[in-house]
Amino acid sequence: MTDSVSRKVRLGVLISGRGSNLIALHKAIQHGKLTNAEISVVVSNRMDAKGLKWASDQGLNTVGLSEESARKPSLRDHAILERLLHYKVDFVLLAGYDRIISSTLLDAFPGRMLNIHPSLLPAFGGPGMLGRAVHEAVLAAGEQESGCTVHLVTDIVDGGAILGQTRVSVLANDTADTLAERVLNAEHQLYAEAVQNYIHRVTVS
Ligand code: GRF
Repeated sequence: MTDSVSRKVRLGVLISGRGSNLIALHKAIQHGKLTNAEISVVVSNRMDAKGLKWASDQGLNTVGLSEESARKPSLRDHAILERLLHYKVDFVLLAGYDRIISSTLLDAFPGRMLNIHPSLLPAFGGPGMLGRAVHEAVLAAGEQESGCTVHLVTDIVDGGAILGQTRVSVLANDTADTLAERVLNAEHQLYAEAVQNYIHRVTVS
């Protein structure tokens, strides 16, 4: 933050699954790599997301959307927005969140929503490029290098300004799973670094 606000920056983390990036962000805060910030709430569009249980076990505030509100895009983003505002979130971090964000949320957090994607964007991004599909596409294309990207979320899927990237070699005997694992390790490092660099240069009032 560049103003005189002394409070911690409040982060809202959106997840859909195991939440390993969420865990990495939490650790980064605990270990002082991500400073003057706190995870104010973890929201999942799936009640049974492993990461949601983990967050609740840590004593973090958690919200699991009901099946009905998770399914309908209009209900979903209104429900999420309501919770993010309730917890007075400054920045929204998508961490393995598998739904497209609508203008309902985007307009409420302009330049304040970040995502991590498991490829070197703009390559292998866009609608449908999620999780395993990304790594399969990288291998099918015969790439020698992949990686991960932290970017701002806009109305263009995976198309917002790039805030950080880490390159990861593709090995000759890689499968989608081995590549995913190596990229995921890089993600855990990159996300906290990129968040740290970004949130403390944007003013929060
Ligand atoms: C990560 O590879 C992330 O880049 C992608 O989905 C995966 C989620 O992993 N968006 P996790 O839930 O953080 O473990």
